[in-house]
Amino acid sequence: MNSVESNQHHVLPNPKTHPFISKFKKITLPLLILITAISLGCFTRTNYYKVHYLKYSLISQTLFHSIGSIFSVSPSKPVYIPSHCVLWMAPFLSGGGYSSEGWSYILALHNHTKIHTFRLAIEHHGDLESLEFWEGLPQDMKNLAYELYQTQCNINETIVICHSEPGAWYPPLFQTLPCPPSFYSEFKSVIGRTMFETDRVNGEHVERCNRMDYVWVPTEFHKSTFIESGVVASKVVKIVQPIDVEFFDPVKYTPLDFGSTEKLILGSGVSKGFVFLSIFKWEYRKGWDVLLKSYLKEFSKDDSVALYLLTNPYHTDRDFGNKILDFVESSDIGEPVSGWPSVYVIDAHIAQSDLPRVYRAADAFVLPSRGEGWGRPLVEAMSMSLPVIATNWSGPTEYLTEDNSYPLPVDRMSEVMEGPFKGHLWAEPSESKLRVLMRRVMDNPAEAKAKGRKAREDMIREFSPEIVADIVADHIQNILGR
Ligand SMILES: *[C@@H]1O[C@H](CO)[C@@H](O)[C@H](O)[C@H]1NC(C)=O
Ligand SMILES: *[C@@H]1O[C@H](CO)[C@@H](O)[C@H](O)[C@H]1NC(C)=O
Ligand SMILES: *[C@@H]1O[C@H](CO)[C@@H](O)[C@H](O)[C@H]1NC(C)=O
Repeated sequence: MNSVESNQHHVLPNPKTHPFISKFKKITLPLLILITAISLGCFTRTNYYKVHYLKYSLISQTLFHSIGSIFSVSPSKPVYIPSHCVLWMAPFLSGGGYSSEGWSYILALHNHTKIHTFRLAIEHHGDLESLEFWEGLPQDMKNLAYELYQTQCNINETIVICHSEPGAWYPPLFQTLPCPPSFYSEFKSVIGRTMFETDRVNGEHVERCNRMDYVWVPTEFHKSTFIESGVVASKVVKIVQPIDVEFFDPVKYTPLDFGSTEKLILGSGVSKGFVFLSIFKWEYRKGWDVLLKSYLKEFSKDDSVALYLLTNPYHTDRDFGNKILDFVESSDIGEPVSGWPSVYVIDAHIAQSDLPRVYRAADAFVLPSRGEGWGRPLVEAMSMSLPVIATNWSGPTEYLTEDNSYPLPVDRMSEVMEGPFKGHLWAEPSESKLRVLMRRVMDNPAEAKAKGRKAREDMIREFSPEIVADIVADHIQNILGR
């Protein structure tokens, strides 16, 4: 789950390529050393908290206040520079759900027409940095990160957006730059942006949400689950998630050739008449078990079909091939007379810039997840005009319709059996209906194509960056006008 999503190695930032060192140049050298030591994990947990308080007080006193005074003495400039700031704090350098969501807001807001009433600043927060992810970003995003990281703000004129799971909010339950970076009351306003994948929010997180001035959630599903769990209703605001429909535009790309990165796990791999794609972290929540069962029971070698699983580890090793074979062996799935349909795994890192070409290589996207916050690969696939089969529960109900996709019915609710959210409920997607839908999308290309076309239209109309930036800017405007 997102709350414990961090599973990447901690990568040491290289000062030359790492944008987030620059802010600290303004602070005294000892603090920089301190921060470096913290990020190197040189401190025990107890020490960390001591250091953490020191760091946070230095940041609030030194950084913000000295910047504040720079600002107040600066002469009036011919160009009007708004004094208000929106400081967006998210795992910008981590990759993963919150990271890409954070980026999509920043990119959308950056050149939005209404932005002249506030300046935008960013800060990395909420998860470990991944050098691999940073290096895979397009150059214009890197440049934007450098630029926005250096925005200087008055603390009392800043709206902070803590875009992460509530455990990362001040005081954080794990090691991360706190958000807000100083006392809640010192800022103009503090907003938590978060979401969840089960039917409820736990008590600790509810408390953290209620400490915020507002809690932004992406869907009606979250509005109701958060409020039912005890988050103050007047604080909860729905802000949908943008999808970069210009970047995820099928006409701009050719299919990616996976070459040696694809591993054939089952089947002969000789004929790929129809390709199903799924993208997910290897966790039970994603319903990979349901997907494999439905696919292997419905299809055989004769169908010349292939299933591509683009996955990465989630508290597991990378040996997905054996996990799949073990699962099949211990299940009730018998090998068809003609042989298994092909199953491929791709677990190599795919750069963000290559991602659209992955979708282009598929005929349909399928994700029978038990619960999703938003379902980023789903909207990416829809923006790429792919027909999508996805569980009709939780976040994706915000955008899945009979016209734009194949909403997969739920059999029943089931209990989360392990992890910090044990006892919560999520959905069991119907294995038999998944079989029916996979067969249907393959056998009815005209219908599938029409749904894909409608999917892209809906993404453009409801979630394109300009539309969502408008919604965000309006909310910020309201807060500033107060
Ligand atoms: C927004 O930025 C993108 C790329 O940075 C650019 O192509 C586009 O024209 C910009 N739009 C506006 C309204 O400035
Ligand atoms: C914020 O603080 C600065 C410097 O301390 C001061 O000049 C400014 O008037 C304050 N703004 C508000 C809105 O209180
Ligand atoms: C999907 O779920 C919604 C309720 O969230 C329901 O109204 C709709 O009929 C469902 N669609 C399908 C195909 O099951």
